[in-house]
Amino acid sequence: MQIRHIFVLIISILLLVNALPTKSSKSYTIPLKKKRISNSLILHYASGPSNAINIKRATNVSLSDEFSHDDAYFCEITLSNKKFNVMIDTGFGDFIIPSVNCNSTACENKVKYNPVNDTTFRTRNKTFGYVYFGGYVFGIRGTTTSMNINGYNSGLNNDTGIIGNSGLDFGLVDVLPNNFEFDEFDGILGLASQNELVIQPEENFYENIQEDFSDPNQIFSLKIGREADGTESELTIGGIDQSKYTGELFLTEVVDNVYWSIRLDGFSINGISLDFQGRIGKIVSGLSPIIVPFDDAHKIYQQIHNATDNDGRFTMPCENEFKVKIKISSVDFDIDLRDLIDVQQLNDQQICNNNGWILGTTFLKNVYSVYDGSNHKIGIAKLNKSIT
Ligand SMILES: *[C@@H]1O[C@H](CO)[C@@H](O)[C@H](O)[C@H]1NC(C)=O
Ligand SMILES: *[C@@H]1O[C@H](CO)[C@@H](O)[C@H](O)[C@H]1NC(C)=O
Ligand SMILES: *[C@@H]1O[C@H](CO)[C@@H](O)[C@H](O)[C@H]1NC(C)=O
Ligand SMILES: *[C@@H]1O[C@H](CO)[C@@H](O)[C@H](O)[C@H]1NC(C)=O
Ligand SMILES: *[C@@H]1O[C@H](CO)[C@@H](O)[C@H](O)[C@H]1NC(C)=O
Ligand SMILES: *[C@@H]1O[C@H](CO)[C@@H](O)[C@H](O)[C@H]1NC(C)=O
Ligand SMILES: *[C@@H]1O[C@H](CO)[C@@H](O)[C@H](O)[C@H]1NC(C)=O
Repeated sequence: MQIRHIFVLIISILLLVNALPTKSSKSYTIPLKKKRISNSLILHYASGPSNAINIKRATNVSLSDEFSHDDAYFCEITLSNKKFNVMIDTGFGDFIIPSVNCNSTACENKVKYNPVNDTTFRTRNKTFGYVYFGGYVFGIRGTTTSMNINGYNSGLNNDTGIIGNSGLDFGLVDVLPNNFEFDEFDGILGLASQNELVIQPEENFYENIQEDFSDPNQIFSLKIGREADGTESELTIGGIDQSKYTGELFLTEVVDNVYWSIRLDGFSINGISLDFQGRIGKIVSGLSPIIVPFDDAHKIYQQIHNATDNDGRFTMPCENEFKVKIKISSVDFDIDLRDLIDVQQLNDQQICNNNGWILGTTFLKNVYSVYDGSNHKIGIAKLNKSIT
């Protein structure tokens, strides 16, 4: 059989934790993949569930990317009526936006925030810095109540009458890593349930959702599209878009106070269950691959014909066909083969956590997911295949 192309499987190696040289809170570094994105955004607004009192209207935000290799998912927000594109990252607890003072090369083509123009801006008189996507982010912190995402005004709490809370805590970035230079998004909106990257954070985006909505609407939901199928992506804040999935929403316990990490009950390839015990999967919408420790990757590739391991970089003939399922909450979720193959390569990195898996958008494209920090649950359902 002639092997025309060698693809690098996207189930891959590595994970590097605690890369911060300082003694501040835990951080992690992940290899950067260049992201191609669209600047065209289709936003639609729909009224949400009205079963709870005092809730803001649930908001649908649709994310699309025209060049799209399903690498990153974005939406438009406004800060004091100025538009910014932000990448949605469930594996990140901060909200960062380039500041007007940013001189980094990566800031050159970004929309920048000038606090002078935002009457709701309050300085926190604090600097911050941490590692994100393989580079250092530095800047100053502030709060705002002017952040609006398709009708949802984060940190304002005006609908509930709790006016005058501290607003949305965010970072005005003065130094942005070069890795972001070619990304068309300006900032990053973290959806993790807390911000552990800065000292004494005020409320982050998810904590504001918890303030703004009543239980059971203190949630957000994600439907991640696949370019090959032309399917759309959607973030729903304060609700669940029930048309996007079929069958039951299977609830599973969140096992971390900060990140959306869940227990993985099993993994199978071509019907063969691999004995991975006690694996924890952290859902990270800001990354595309499923990232697993080397030993796990090795066991997975042993099940694939003619896969070769070159120092942790696995390749295989592209004609290969195999079926992958990830079991969560005792339910098998199929992972589409097309999502598992990628032409890009990941850098070799050191492994330091044998139980930690990262479930990037390779995983998320195959499910509908709901994030409920108030009840420590993530709901996962099978996608409604008849919608786009
Ligand atoms: C989101 O939009 C879809 C239509 O595009 C609608 O059916 C659904 O009810 C909306 N969901 C929410 C929570 O607003
Ligand atoms: C923002 O503020 C600066 C300085 O006051 C001003 O020059 C600029 O025109 C303002 N921009 C907008 C969009 O209002
Ligand atoms: C920041 O510093 C200024 C000037 O010292 C002070 O007026 C303000 O209250 C401080 N703000 C915060 C949030 O500490
Ligand atoms: C709350 O909403 C009312 C009416 O919509 C507005 O007049 C008021 O300024 C808002 N409060 C804040 C803190 O923005
Ligand atoms: C950006 O450049 C200006 C002028 O060269 C300088 O004054 C300022 O300190 C720089 N800002 C940062 C964050 O390095
Ligand atoms: C799946 O999507 C189709 C087309 O939008 C819709 O008619 C159907 O009701 C949806 N199924 C569920 C279970 O919501
Ligand atoms: C594996 O490689 C061998 C030798 O090159 C070839 O004969 C065989 O067909 C390949 N199997 C698969 C599943 O690609």
